[in-house]
Amino acid sequence: MNTNMTQNPVNSTFSAALAEMSALTGKTLDRLLQEQTEIPTRLKNAMEYMLQSGGKRVRSALVLWSCRMISGQINHDALTAAAAIEMVHTYSLIHDDLPAMDNDDLRRGKPSCHKQFDEATAILAGDALLTLAFEVLASEIKNPAMAVRMIRTLAEAAGPSGMIAGQVADMEGPHVNGSMAQLEYIHMNKTAEMFAASAALGAIAGNASDAQIAAMLEYGMKIGLGFQIADDLLDLTATAEQLGKTAGKDEQQGKLTYPALVGVEKSRQIFQRLTTEAVDALQMFNSRADILRQLAAQLLSRTK
Ligand code: IPE
Ligand code: IPE
Ligand code: MG
Ligand code: MG
Ligand code: MG
Repeated sequence: MNTNMTQNPVNSTFSAALAEMSALTGKTLDRLLQEQTEIPTRLKNAMEYMLQSGGKRVRSALVLWSCRMISGQINHDALTAAAAIEMVHTYSLIHDDLPAMDNDDLRRGKPSCHKQFDEATAILAGDALLTLAFEVLASEIKNPAMAVRMIRTLAEAAGPSGMIAGQVADMEGPHVNGSMAQLEYIHMNKTAEMFAASAALGAIAGNASDAQIAAMLEYGMKIGLGFQIADDLLDLTATAEQLGKTAGKDEQQGKLTYPALVGVEKSRQIFQRLTTEAVDALQMFNSRADILRQLAAQLLSRTK
């Protein structure tokens, strides 16, 4: 399947462009899940409940835009990678919300997975999504070298030296005497690595050169770190209605966050600087990277 898309259509707003990418990822997720005919019903319901629950799908859009920028189109391999990244991201949220972790009953404006179902089902739905992500990469990506590169990229970002390392450090609190080095470690690992992997996966699907992949990794790390700073700021300044998840919980749980360590104003400045650096990383792609420049700018003003 080759889905040819117009590049950055002039009449469409950024949110319409994001909605278009979200629909493509949603359709792919649906198909991949429906093809799995042996999943027990309750488990499948929990996986579906979380996969199609109105996430922003920023990471998967990044996969698709990255592929389109490199190759001129959104191909089947990029759609597979977009679905895989949403599966891993969604699993991370299900587990992050569990009572043993952040203990959050609200996710995307609805009961968290363990509230809607039960804790065991939520743990297992997370396990299932994580595993399925790698199964679909292994079975749908036909070029073996590309499949291995994608699997390795995603595994390194999500694994024990990536997102899990960040989550472990995040859970070590309460961080009364946290340092900037510790904070950067947490945020780069728990969040930025997955953004970098998303940008790289799209580039790999588009047959990018190593230099192009390196530029996309840098862009992804910068917007990913900025994304978690914004998440910290919103936890402090937004309402649960706005966020679709409990607000004010970082302070309550003694989390090490940017606003807690350096204050709201300095956090905003750091986020601004990261956005500029992210855009700088796109230089070699000229106007083909405009949608990714817009993405970086949009993340600066996000309210949910
Ligand atoms: C939430 O990610 C977890 C973080 C890493 C901050 P998102 O804000 O992308 O969550 P959804 O997928 O849109 O719900
Ligand atoms: C979550 O960070 C990062 C993950 C890897 C899931 P948070 O704990 O701040 O995310 P939210 O605020 O619950 O979405
Ligand atoms: Mg957390
Ligand atoms: Mg959390
Ligand atoms: Mg948060």
